[in-house]
Amino acid sequence: MAALLELKDVHAYYGDSHVLRGVSLSVEEGEVVGLLGRNGAGKTTTLLTIMGYLRARQGAIVFRGERMGGLHPYRVARRGIGFVPQERRIFPSLTVRENLSIGERSDGRGRWSVEDIWNIFPNLHARQKNLGCHLSGGEQQMLAIARALMVDPVLLLLDEPSEGLAPLIVEKIVQVLHDVKGKGLTILLIEQNLNTALRLADRHYVLSKGEICYSGTSGDLEGSEEVMKKYLGV
Ligand SMILES: Nc1ncnc2c1ncn2[C@@H]1O[C@H](COP(=O)(O)OP(=O)(O)OP(=O)(O)O)[C@@H](O)[C@H]1O
Ligand SMILES: [Mg+2]
Repeated sequence: MAALLELKDVHAYYGDSHVLRGVSLSVEEGEVVGLLGRNGAGKTTTLLTIMGYLRARQGAIVFRGERMGGLHPYRVARRGIGFVPQERRIFPSLTVRENLSIGERSDGRGRWSVEDIWNIFPNLHARQKNLGCHLSGGEQQMLAIARALMVDPVLLLLDEPSEGLAPLIVEKIVQVLHDVKGKGLTILLIEQNLNTALRLADRHYVLSKGEICYSGTSGDLEGSEEVMKKYLGV
């Protein structure tokens, strides 16, 4: 079976700085795949390259059987990839409801209605008239995920959704990601907290200095003390 997303020997640069050095990975439909690695390993750069914010100078990115090289981010999004960036990027001067409208499909054919979003995130419902800038960090993260769902992606890319959040909020986000996975969404997830990554993802890739140095299931990774010590620092 062909993978939903496949990266084959992808190289990417910031100017002359060669950051991704031949990244190959695949994500099958319905999977949650973790992308792990220390600070500066190239995790965010991998997602930016998939989204087309950064051009792959070498290698191929194939999504649903089609090459995506050189597509603009909005075209990548239209093909069915949702992106929740590390810095969340919600609109601070718009209300919660207005932030959701930005992602809402004009044809009304998305899998997630606003009602669904309110059911998944009751606290966003309660705060729908509040401005983005008045939300807590956890609420902003939930809004960023909710907005990505409104676009009805096939694959969701998440960059450290639990970063800087209190344990109770992290639990809520883990629950939400379990629920959306149950509804058939495929997820590629960057997660610094190994425990959270192990709970959420079926399989993992570990990046080190722009190269994949390990891949395996959660069970494999837990059993591999050497990988955890050497590449994850735990
Ligand atoms: N805009 C940029 N210009 C130049 N170099 C950059 C830029 N952004 C990132 N880098 C460098 O590219 C490398 C990979 O960065 P990246 O942000 O992908 O790492 P990361 O794995 O997401 O790390 P973190 O866990 O800190 O988010 C790092 O060495 C970083 O310093
Ligand atoms: Mg990062």
